[in-house]
Amino acid sequence: MQNGSLVNAGGPQATLLNDSCVGCHSNSGTETIVTLGSTSIPIVFNASEPTYPATGTASSTLAGGNFYWVAQAGGDAYGHNVYGISGQDGTLSAAPGASTACATCHNSLAGSESTSGCKGCHVPAHHADDSAEVVGATGGWYRFLGENPAMMGSPDVYGVKGIEEDNWEQNPASDSHNGYFGSSTVYAKCFWPYLPTYSIGQFCVGCHGNFHHEMNSAQPGDVSGAWIRHPSDVIIPNAIEYANYTVYNPLAPVAKTALAGKKNSTVVEPGADLVTCISCHRPHGSPYPDMLRWDYSNSCKVGVSNADCGCFVCHSTKD
Ligand code: HEC
Ligand code: HEC
Ligand code: HEC
Ligand code: HEC
Ligand code: HEC
Ligand code: HEC
Repeated sequence: MQNGSLVNAGGPQATLLNDSCVGCHSNSGTETIVTLGSTSIPIVFNASEPTYPATGTASSTLAGGNFYWVAQAGGDAYGHNVYGISGQDGTLSAAPGASTACATCHNSLAGSESTSGCKGCHVPAHHADDSAEVVGATGGWYRFLGENPAMMGSPDVYGVKGIEEDNWEQNPASDSHNGYFGSSTVYAKCFWPYLPTYSIGQFCVGCHGNFHHEMNSAQPGDVSGAWIRHPSDVIIPNAIEYANYTVYNPLAPVAKTALAGKKNSTVVEPGADLVTCISCHRPHGSPYPDMLRWDYSNSCKVGVSNADCGCFVCHSTKD
């Protein structure tokens, strides 16, 4: 936003003159992929409500969700509050579960520092060659989720690996979707100086440590005890209700411990695949509190159709 009005990403001039992330990646209308000549720009902030969940229309929300709801509709709980889009979260003064405080990213992503906002999570590499099936360091990491230079680590060495669906899941289906890398190693927080797993879960946990490190009563050693929080980065058992989740459902995606050859794989493998943060949350925001991927308070109840409740994708017999 500039002086309360959206920077229009719809014209070539905007592209030339505006070098902020939000300027290029927002749109005053509902289209979520803006085409300028041969370039397609993925939109993460629409000023008018995009379609959710994605149905394949031009207004369908992309995989990371959209900042529309945190900025224009629901409020602070409906997305990450980031610079250029919304002010500091009125309720949360730091990332829930954080064990460290280095303000610009760990307390808030809404500050005007050059390391805050979009760059708190993304380390842009627009000209990297991301044509490999599994995008890693060479491609600027999966969706530019690299080790942040502000972190004293080694920016080129650690990041998130994944398979990038060409249309950013504007039209997701069981045979057309991103591929998320995961690990069932009871990993340490962030990539550096700890053991890097290159997983999407470890990326979130860098700022939300306790959501993984205090999720089980037997931690830090292992996860054999009682669950304190919902398990994340644990294998989906090939047993009871879980064994029924065998066809990939982009509403409640899984992470895989090996991605090679798995581009657009329709197969979910209980006993091998994992539940992770992104199975339930959209990092940019969603129409629901806690940026959940589905309407937990209304769709997951007894007595209503549970088709839209992602919990039941894995907990199939509770449907
Ligand atoms: C001049 C316009 C422009 C600016 C400024 C810009 N981007 Fe982009 N961005 C694009 C285009 C076009 C793409 C799609 C092509 C590509 O991936 O390079 C893209 C892609 C992306 C992607 C998705 C990458 C993928 O793997 O699909 C991310 C994440 C991203 N940009 C983040 C940022 C951040 C963070 C900033 C600010 C530091 C930023 N962009 C600034 C135009 C821009
Ligand atoms: C760079 C640090 C950082 C990373 C990485 C990060 N978060 Fe956050 N997160 C925050 C901060 C700061 C807040 C509190 C302020 C806000 O909501 O913007 C927050 C809030 C949240 C909330 C509460 C929403 C709300 O506003 O009430 C959820 C849910 C969440 N994050 C999930 C995630 C998930 C899932 C990931 C990984 C895809 C992730 N976060 C990665 C910093 C981070
Ligand atoms: C809390 C961390 C976080 C913040 C802050 C954040 N992103 Fe993202 N972004 C992600 C993650 C994680 C993904 C991958 C989502 C997926 O594939 O499911 C992503 C994906 C994207 C994509 C690819 C399209 C999509 O929806 O998958 C673009 C473009 C992008 N981000 C741009 C931005 C811009 C611009 C900003 C600032 C306005 C921003 N991001 C802020 C974590 C973040
Ligand atoms: C530009 C945003 C940014 C800044 C500034 C930043 N961090 Fe981080 N931090 C992250 C992200 C993103 C992660 C998770 C992914 C990773 O490892 O890069 C993380 C993870 C961490 C972790 C691991 C998680 C934990 O709680 O143990 C520590 C420790 C940490 N940061 C400390 C710091 C310290 C100390 C500073 C100040 C010198 C700092 N960070 C500044 C973005 C930032
Ligand atoms: C099985 C689904 C699921 C998974 C997996 C999951 N979450 Fe959540 N998360 C939720 C639900 C539901 C809520 C809101 C209700 C609650 O607080 O329990 C929530 C709330 C949150 C909040 C907000 C807490 C607050 O105090 O406002 C944060 C932050 C968060 N999750 C981060 C994460 C991170 C990071 C991961 C991965 C390590 C993760 N979640 C994995 C379902 C999930
Ligand atoms: C991507 C798959 C997936 C999704 C989506 C999912 N879960 Fe789970 N859930 C799991 C796995 C895996 C376990 C751990 C099973 C084990 O090892 O015992 C689990 C465990 C649980 C447990 C039992 C913890 C215990 O004490 O044993 C509850 C309760 C639960 N989930 C509720 C939910 C709710 C509520 C949602 C929706 C917000 C949800 N789950 C979404 C995979 C999922």
